[in-house]
Amino acid sequence: MPSASTFVQEKKSVVDDGKEEWRSYLVPEKLEVLRQLEPWVEDHVLPLLKTVEASWQPSDLLPDPAALGADGFHAACLELRAAAAGVPDELLVCLVANMVTEEALPTYPSVLNRLEVVRDATGADDTAWARWIRGWSAEENRHGDVLNRYMHLSGRFDMREVERTVQHLIRDGMSMHEPASPFHVFVYVAFQERATAIAHGNTARLVGARGAGDAALARICGTVASDEKRHEAAYTRLMGKLFEADPDAAVRAMAYMMQRRIDMPTAFINDGRHSGGDFYARFIAIAEKAGTYTLSDYRCILEHLLRQWCVEDLKVGLSGDGRRAQDYLCAPPHKIKRIEEKTHDRMIRTHKKPTLIPISWIFDRPISVNLP
Ligand SMILES: [Fe+2]
Ligand SMILES: [Fe+2]
Repeated sequence: MPSASTFVQEKKSVVDDGKEEWRSYLVPEKLEVLRQLEPWVEDHVLPLLKTVEASWQPSDLLPDPAALGADGFHAACLELRAAAAGVPDELLVCLVANMVTEEALPTYPSVLNRLEVVRDATGADDTAWARWIRGWSAEENRHGDVLNRYMHLSGRFDMREVERTVQHLIRDGMSMHEPASPFHVFVYVAFQERATAIAHGNTARLVGARGAGDAALARICGTVASDEKRHEAAYTRLMGKLFEADPDAAVRAMAYMMQRRIDMPTAFINDGRHSGGDFYARFIAIAEKAGTYTLSDYRCILEHLLRQWCVEDLKVGLSGDGRRAQDYLCAPPHKIKRIEEKTHDRMIRTHKKPTLIPISWIFDRPISVNLP
């Protein structure tokens, strides 16, 4: 999910700039580390997937017309719509962004299938890596489905506009700075799975019984968030193993990624009413205001991952570049905190007038938001 647009990127690179840096991860010795990890992935990562039999399905969380019959289904839909009626517009917009992010799923396994060693070369490979990619995608596939169906039944969204957004986004894809290096992509995905868990979890809290009063929607978002937590555990564990196997490569890859900022995979999202990247920046401001994903969440994720991977304590096996990457990584959380404080102070001092942004997904009703 989103990162904070106000997180200023460092001008000077702490690692060699550009393609040369991530291409150095594709030499045979580096790829051998990944190859040798396969039995470990079998034993420690694959068990984090649930079997199909043990998995929830979207039908478990929504009214079932076959089981309820016409009258029962109608009554259940009226109940769902009554609860959804209390959810404020800004949370509806965040919910669409959550759903669209999930619905762009075809893009994500294609990212993993570009990775050396890890990729599922035939589409039905039997390696632990390939089974992980397919099993993870299969779990993810339910997330967009359940949110989409809830939204359709709730009657609160212009579904045609939402569907157009999904189609545009899958056509536009997503850009990665390091398309074939597992070290870089696993840093990104570990960060992103935690961000997604936080965004769905915050949405659940805000729309739920103690917030907007839609308990059914809160249950849906909470169920999705708990899947994301398992996925986060898998990628964090995997990257932790790479930190053990090759700390210098891992710390440099992490610095490279953080330096370029971890944007949500749907940075090209657009509701069709705004030009280019404009909409992403606006959406970030809406999510910040609504509280579904904030600059402070971004900082906390970074701090959490630095702790998980013991980045500050790395001592053995670091090159000069590796030590510089370590120093860089241990400083940004403080910088982000300062930006948070400054933004907060500025808002209080200037009383900046909010901007009204009409959003097609909710029939062009405007959202009032403070743009940076
Ligand atoms: Fe998901
Ligand atoms: Fe996920």
